[in-house]
Amino acid sequence: MGPIELNKRRIFFLVAGIISFYILFHGLSSFDRDSLKDATAHIPLPGYLSPTEHKPPIEADPDDIWDFSPEPSPAAHPDIDPANPPTTESKPVQHFDLHPIARLMQEADDRWRTYESAISTSFRQTVEKYRSRYGRHPPPGFKDWYRFARKRNVFNVDDFDQIMDDLRPFWAVNASDIRTHAAHMAEDPKFGVAVIHIRDHKIVRADNPSWRSETMEQVINKFVEFLPDMDIPMNRLDQPRVIVPWEDMQEMLQKEYDTRAMPPEVADSFSEGQPNLLDLSIKDKEQDNSTRLDDGWFFRPGKQYMDIAAKACPPESPARSNMTVAEADQLYKESTVGLVANFNLSSDLCTVGPTIQNLHGLLYSASSIIASHKLVPIFGECKVNVNSDILFPANMYYRHDDRYDYNASDDLDWRDKDDTIIWRGVTSGGVQTGDNWQTMHRQRLVQLTNGTYVAKSATEVKVLTEKRDDPAAENTTYELYDRFQPSQFADQHSDIGFVESWGCVPDCSFYNNVFSWKPQVSLTSQFKSKYLIDVDGHSFSGRWRAFLQSKSLGFKATIFREWHDSRLLAWRHFVPVDNRYDDLYALLTYFIGYGEANKDHAVEDQELNPQVYIAPHVKEAQKLARQGREWANKVLRREDIEVYMFRLLLEYGRIIDDGRDYIGYSGDGSELDKFDAGDEKDGLWGIGGWKR
Ligand SMILES: *[C@@H]1O[C@H](CO)[C@@H](O)[C@H](O)[C@H]1NC(C)=O
Ligand SMILES: *[C@@H]1O[C@H](CO)[C@@H](O)[C@H](O)[C@H]1NC(C)=O
Ligand SMILES: *[C@@H]1O[C@H](CO)[C@@H](O)[C@H](O)[C@H]1NC(C)=O
Ligand SMILES: *[C@@H]1O[C@H](CO)[C@@H](O)[C@H](O)[C@H]1NC(C)=O
Ligand SMILES: *[C@@H]1O[C@H](CO)[C@@H](O)[C@H](O)[C@H]1NC(C)=O
Ligand SMILES: *[C@@H]1O[C@H](CO)[C@@H](O)[C@H](O)[C@H]1NC(C)=O
Ligand SMILES: *[C@@H]1O[C@H](CO)[C@@H](O)[C@H](O)[C@H]1NC(C)=O
Repeated sequence: MGPIELNKRRIFFLVAGIISFYILFHGLSSFDRDSLKDATAHIPLPGYLSPTEHKPPIEADPDDIWDFSPEPSPAAHPDIDPANPPTTESKPVQHFDLHPIARLMQEADDRWRTYESAISTSFRQTVEKYRSRYGRHPPPGFKDWYRFARKRNVFNVDDFDQIMDDLRPFWAVNASDIRTHAAHMAEDPKFGVAVIHIRDHKIVRADNPSWRSETMEQVINKFVEFLPDMDIPMNRLDQPRVIVPWEDMQEMLQKEYDTRAMPPEVADSFSEGQPNLLDLSIKDKEQDNSTRLDDGWFFRPGKQYMDIAAKACPPESPARSNMTVAEADQLYKESTVGLVANFNLSSDLCTVGPTIQNLHGLLYSASSIIASHKLVPIFGECKVNVNSDILFPANMYYRHDDRYDYNASDDLDWRDKDDTIIWRGVTSGGVQTGDNWQTMHRQRLVQLTNGTYVAKSATEVKVLTEKRDDPAAENTTYELYDRFQPSQFADQHSDIGFVESWGCVPDCSFYNNVFSWKPQVSLTSQFKSKYLIDVDGHSFSGRWRAFLQSKSLGFKATIFREWHDSRLLAWRHFVPVDNRYDDLYALLTYFIGYGEANKDHAVEDQELNPQVYIAPHVKEAQKLARQGREWANKVLRREDIEVYMFRLLLEYGRIIDDGRDYIGYSGDGSELDKFDAGDEKDGLWGIGGWKR
């Protein structure tokens, strides 16, 4: 190949590439010009430095230029004039916002920097990191996957821990047994499993299919040429399936650990002709005499989920010990007003299960549960932390569906949005009766944010209010106020309600005097609100990605785990909410603000909560919203779903291979040096990502 060989076609692409790069870059930087202009007036906002740790100033985060839009800054520190920032010589007094949210955001930013700084930039590094993390060679086909991922401009080529965690215990199960389970799982349709069959690098059939398996097929077709023969069982239900008792799981994880090895020379290809895949030549399953293994499915709808789920928890966890709610709270909530400090634990049933077992539809009265205590392979879109289902990116995130797809054309700029929190949905979550509906998570949310209802029921909630005993104090400090009456605030700032009832026994007439149905609001019209709250339905919520992509700020309460969890950081990309919602008004009053400064409160008897004042923290909210949006556009794209699925099915292909201990990629990664340097004609990773 000649050194410089530019034919017309290439010149065309080169020029087109430069132009699109220019447009993209230019387009991005003019995205919020006012903000950019204002960046010159940058004053370090109090509270962005950790109040507890005295560190040297952090390198300016390039993101932070977006923080300063022309909105007037909150009145909390009127002594700093933005037009005349104090010079360094005058040694201005540092003001700190000692609200726990400021600290939680700071800690999340620190975790984020650690995450972001450790990413591999070459195939060599990726391979090395793989081996040091997992103690094994990467699976066969890893090179192809790596190219595929780079061409799709993957942001973090290392972050696939979810896949490894999901598959790890299967190293303790005989590969041929995994294949046998998978092959026959769709045979009895009442167990709610679809199976996709790949033979000779093609999807040849799907048994018991649904729209879900059809979408999954579309994704797989992007890279099916690299996959070995396999049967892929997929959950057709909303609810997760596999609950392995903790003691059994410990044993399996130990086995996995003990079998780790990196033999010097292994075959970079899958084994051919594996037995015990489904014999597709047999048309009638009755004629198929091959061995079956019992999947152990049992039906358990409408019962307490913790009764079967607690088995999967460690003995010392709240779910299996006699820990009180207050003790369990200390494990994941901050101490002043109970904000979620550890989002993982806030959705960990071993920690919060006993507390919320009567407060969530899945836990109290799931409409369908078909579970197993055996480790059987089943791919699912979501699970709770006690489950061993193999997560894959939800089909809703891949399909194009107006109800779940973000469409920027109707989104407003932050400052044009209302100071409201919005939610719409149906009464799903579990089977509802006249006696149990108050245990459901959606119903509780709708009541708690209904001004009329909270007034009538004299509901009082916890918030933090600014301490004002010393007006000259250099820091803003807060104290707990636990008798906050939220009705006026809810009337002004919440737009939360059901659009219709659904899923009641015998019918939903018991809602007649409880809820009124609100008008449906399309996904994009919801973005007129600054704050969006996302809660579970029967299972995870498919709107979450669109919420993150929007210019609004997402609040999230959930018990479910999804494929992307390790990529999303609470307090960096979204606001975590406790599944009890006992922190909701503390969150809202912090961002939206409450009361007026410098009022003589004694005379304010016509207003509720005259004791409470908290300045608005609009910039903090905007910062979170922007970070969530930018991040979602980098790591939750359809391309990211393809990359995740490809990697997942390579790992699955190895775990079901009888030769799994002797196959994989054992090289040092140097084969792709040229590719990484952009010297190959299809190199230059990133280019694929621009062409959209
Ligand atoms: C204000 O907060 C900072 C950081 O926590 C602390 O170092 C300082 O002592 C506080 N100032 C006062 C007057 O409490
Ligand atoms: C796996 O199961 C197959 C079929 O039951 C058996 O022939 C084989 O020996 C088993 N392998 C191991 C490692 O247990
Ligand atoms: C399965 O066994 C039945 C009864 O022995 C036999 O009639 C049938 O041909 C077998 N099926 C296959 C595919 O061999
Ligand atoms: C929990 O309390 C019950 C009854 O009080 C007792 O029988 C049981 O041993 C306790 N379990 C643990 C783990 O402390
Ligand atoms: C986004 O919404 C606009 C206006 O509603 C519509 O014209 C456009 O086709 C939508 N874009 C996509 C990609 O769906
Ligand atoms: C709010 O609560 C009142 C009183 O309980 C009820 O009549 C009304 O229908 C509720 N509104 C909504 C939107 O559910
Ligand atoms: C939360 O769980 C994810 C995996 O889903 C893990 O990567 C992350 O480190 C955990 N975060 C914390 C704070 O424990």
